[in-house]
Amino acid sequence: MACVAAKLGAGSSSSWMLGSRDHASGRRNELRAQAVAGRRATTELPKLFVERPSSTGPAMRTKTTTKKPLNFAQKIADKVIDVVERNLELLHGQQEPLPSTVDPLVQLEGNFSPVAEQPACHDLEVEGNLPGCLEGVYVRNGPNPQFAPTGRHHLFDGDGMLHAVSIHADGSVSYACRYTRTYRFMEEARQGRAFFPKPIGELHGYGGVARLLAHWTRSLCGILDASQGMGVANAGLVWFNKRLLAISEDDLPVEVRMTENDDIETVGRYDFHGQLAHSMIAHPKIDPATGELFSLSYNVLSAPYLKYLIFGPDGEKKNEVPVTLPEAAMTHDFAITENFVVIPDQQIVFRLKEMLTGGSPVVLDPKKTPRFGIMPKYATSEEQLLWIEVPNCFFFHLYNAWEEGDEVVVIGSSMTPADIIFKTSEVPRALFTEVRLNRVTGKSSKRELCSLNLEVGKMNLNYVGKKTQFMYLAIVEPWPKVSGIAKVDVQSGDVVARYNFGPDRFGGEPVFVPRGSGGTAEDDGYLLAFCHDEHTGLSELLVLDAASPTLARVASVKLPSRVPYGFHGAFIPAQDLLQAQ
Ligand SMILES: [Fe+2]
Repeated sequence: MACVAAKLGAGSSSSWMLGSRDHASGRRNELRAQAVAGRRATTELPKLFVERPSSTGPAMRTKTTTKKPLNFAQKIADKVIDVVERNLELLHGQQEPLPSTVDPLVQLEGNFSPVAEQPACHDLEVEGNLPGCLEGVYVRNGPNPQFAPTGRHHLFDGDGMLHAVSIHADGSVSYACRYTRTYRFMEEARQGRAFFPKPIGELHGYGGVARLLAHWTRSLCGILDASQGMGVANAGLVWFNKRLLAISEDDLPVEVRMTENDDIETVGRYDFHGQLAHSMIAHPKIDPATGELFSLSYNVLSAPYLKYLIFGPDGEKKNEVPVTLPEAAMTHDFAITENFVVIPDQQIVFRLKEMLTGGSPVVLDPKKTPRFGIMPKYATSEEQLLWIEVPNCFFFHLYNAWEEGDEVVVIGSSMTPADIIFKTSEVPRALFTEVRLNRVTGKSSKRELCSLNLEVGKMNLNYVGKKTQFMYLAIVEPWPKVSGIAKVDVQSGDVVARYNFGPDRFGGEPVFVPRGSGGTAEDDGYLLAFCHDEHTGLSELLVLDAASPTLARVASVKLPSRVPYGFHGAFIPAQDLLQAQ
């Protein structure tokens, strides 16, 4: 049964947040007009998000919503800061034409553009049969800017939105999408405009300095509380200690939960009950044997820049080891084996002073030799960390690692050029690659496994830290769209199965769900991935048989509204949801 709410537009949407049948050219022209208008009349930004934070409803129950109204002096200060900020931006921040990596007309084109929130929509049409092991919820994170950009905007800058498909034992299926109520989101919604700096798009040159100074000044004046962070929670998702955490490495995680009505609500910023002081990377690892969470924590402003953390399955911190780097380096992911942790220190570094000379603080250092640190999982000191150089390697994602004799084998996609996501407009390569780190000799070797552009790989999570045969990866061709999914034999590099979404159809990261618990083959399970048809404007959730030689489609859930291309997802079984905190 089609969802009435979807037909009516799921609430109301702004003029430029188009529905499920938008056309790219019209969307582009409208976005261009809005962006230009925004630059000219910056006090009247287009408003995308329609629900106000003062509204009631399941998605509004968050610990970060209450705030006193600004007093008269704060309102005056806010206006003054705004005027100064805008003028500094006009003097130094604008650049025409914008580089494609921060041009909102490129970054938010077509199905990269945002959608309005969708309350839970039930009894969706299903083609095929949904396997019983999929009883639970598939949730996917991604960027969905609340307001139309008025200048530089990178895809990574968008406010985090979660898309959840709930599958019940009786075969009924629901869908909802909700913003994650970060402090940033709530404050901007409250004021009806975007005023937090965008970390990738806007922190560039003097305009970026102006944005940071304005942010800090607003905090000094009590207009906002900088201690509550400025993250967007738009990248990763992890289920840990009966909680679902939305993560981006610009802030602490944000706890979210599914409601009884299959809606999504934000619980609040989660610091592990005071045990996490700084941002967490987007891809913590859960050890399938112990249930422990392993992660890294960032502080780009001061040494040691990185910390290695272990939390027990009960959420209590068991260990924290500083990882001292020469300077802050971008660390989006890492890996664990049965006995070791693998920590990358690569060529993308953070140098805030670069903004003072008109540049970006996210810098590619071609003179730096990438390296991976190997440390015993339960090390108590960074003196136990062994760094091994791996020239010409940049892993944005590390999919898995395991031990083979003296070697630690790491699987990831090596991106060329390393800073493709942030600076250049070249066509990138993301090559599925094996790196071997010898703990005895301190040497490394590297082997490209496949010539396809493959990224955001997922595997059977019961094999985290163990030797893996199969990896399921998004075929990122034509970049940055995902035209299919490849099942790759990690040993040979052969694509042993492939599913193409079809003409004008694109998707994203595949999430593997095992058919049973334990004792089954590594590839005995299903892949979940959103797919969008750019011709019809319709989106669906595909269920593919991971063991099939063709990754055969076994079911498809027709979604009531468009799902933009996004980042990472997770599947939470129904029995785990029942235990949610
Ligand atoms: Fe990621």
